[in-house]
Parts: sequence; C-alpha cells; structure tokens
Amino acid sequence: MSAATPFIDIHRVVYGYARDHRIVDDVSWSLQQGGFHCLVGRSGCGKTTLLKLVAGLLTPQQGHIRRQDGRSVVPGPQLGYMFQAPTLLDWQRVLDNVLLPVSLQRRPSQADFARARELLAMLGLASYEQRYPRELSGGQQSRVALARALVLQPELLLLDEPFAALDAITRYELQDDLLRMCRKQRTTVLFVTHDIGEAVYLADRVGVMHAGRLLADIAVSLPVPRTQALRHGVAFNGICAGIYDTMMRAGQ
Ligand SMILES: Nc1ncnc2c1ncn2[C@@H]1O[C@H](COP(=O)(O)OP(=O)(O)O)[C@@H](O)[C@H]1O
Ligand SMILES: [Mg+2]
Repeated sequence: MSAATPFIDIHRVVYGYARDHRIVDDVSWSLQQGGFHCLVGRSGCGKTTLLKLVAGLLTPQQGHIRRQDGRSVVPGPQLGYMFQAPTLLDWQRVLDNVLLPVSLQRRPSQADFARARELLAMLGLASYEQRYPRELSGGQQSRVALARALVLQPELLLLDEPFAALDAITRYELQDDLLRMCRKQRTTVLFVTHDIGEAVYLADRVGVMHAGRLLADIAVSLPVPRTQALRHGVAFNGICAGIYDTMMRAGQ
C-alpha cells in the first residue's frame, strides 16, 4: 500500500449534541496509514467530539468516516484509547492493568504475558509489574495506560490529551516514549491536544481546529526521530507560530 492511501477518511462530517448547533461542522480530513496526526485547538472547539466520531462512539449526522476498505469504524480491539486520566484499576497490579483489554475478551496466553512484559520493559517499568497503581508516580501511571492501550497492537491509537496533567519534563519523556512505541509498531495515531508545541513535536500532520471547523492541515517536516533540542530551533518555532496565527485569525 502506498503511503498516500488514506487509512481513515473523514468526509464532510457534521455532528451536534443539540439540534441546530454544530459542534463538528463539515470536517474533512484523512489519516494516513502509520502516520502520527495531531488535532490541535482551544478547549471546547470540538476535538473530543471528533475523536469520538472517529472511534465510532458517536455517529456522524452528515458525512461519513470510513476505513480504507470502505467499512465503518467500530469500537473494538483494533482501536487503542488513552485519555487524560490514566483510569487504571486500583485493585489490580500493573501487569494485570496492562492485560485488561485482553482479559476482557479471553484468558491471557503466555504470549500476551510476554507482550505485556515487553511493553513495560520498553517503558522502563519492568521492575514494577507487581506494584499497584497507587505505588506509582503520575508519569509511571500514564506509561502503564500507554502499555495497556498498545497491548493488543491496535491498528489505530486514539489519544485525548493524555499527558495534559503531567509536569513538563515528564510530559516530554512520555512524548518520546509514545513516538518510539508507535514507530516500532507502525501504529496509525490520532492525538488530541490543546498544546501547539506538543502537536508540532509529535505529529507528521497537524489538523488545526476552531469552533467545530478544521482550519488547516499542516505537514510537519522536522527531522525524525525528534530530539528535545528541536524545541528551541527556528523551524519548530516557526511552525508553532504559524498554527497560533491561524487560530488567532479565526478567532477574530
Ligand atoms: N455529551 C455532550 N452533551 C452536550 N454537549 C456536549 C457534550 N460533549 C461536549 N459537548 C459540548 O460540545 C462542545 C465541544 O466539546 P468537546 O468536543 O469536548 O471539545 P474539546 O475536546 O475541544 O474541548 C463544548 O461546547 C461542549 O460543552
Ligand atoms: Mg476534549
């Protein structure tokens, strides 16, 4: 399959919770296979609603969202989720939390255990598998939630401001972890954030959203793999400034 084949095609999608009030207003966008897509916009602009539409948790009132094979997206193991709060089960150990998406379907096999342990090792948590969530820092809990989102090797990973509650240094580390894990698995990612810098650091493409509309689809051509030093460079800051201007102009 060529890199240009859209994996998910969002076509003229409209959605509102109340009649005559569009929260997602005629949005078209395509997600490329293996690509990292960020959706950025200020709070309340409709990002979470669009993410839920892509997940199949909401159904478009107009337009459609289709996979490359023409089928609709339905919730299931082919989707991985991660939200702002890690939402770990307090009474389960780290390893069992990671295996939860498997346990909901079947009894975890030896291969499932091996995979969960591999993910924890990649995230620096190999020695924490028998701990309970309360014994972990916020950043470690987020890593467990990331491992849980990836344990079934989803073809599409959906993240909704997953690092927003973390301090800046921990957030940067988690961003690098996420990029590394998704590159290794060639996961297609849709990541929602209100943080322009986060979007530009992570994404191949940034969708800029305002008041329910997709204002721009920006290709980020920064070196891969990303390094923290990039954040101080002219290219990085130029892209951030362009996105900020687009959002400000739309708000006037
Ligand atoms: N379940 C709901 N019922 C009614 N209104 C909602 C619901 N969820 C979100 N909204 C409204 O839709 C708008 C966009 O919300 P949301 O998609 O969560 O935005 P964002 O994620 O960009 O902050 C907000 O005005 C919010 O109040
Ligand atoms: Mg939201």
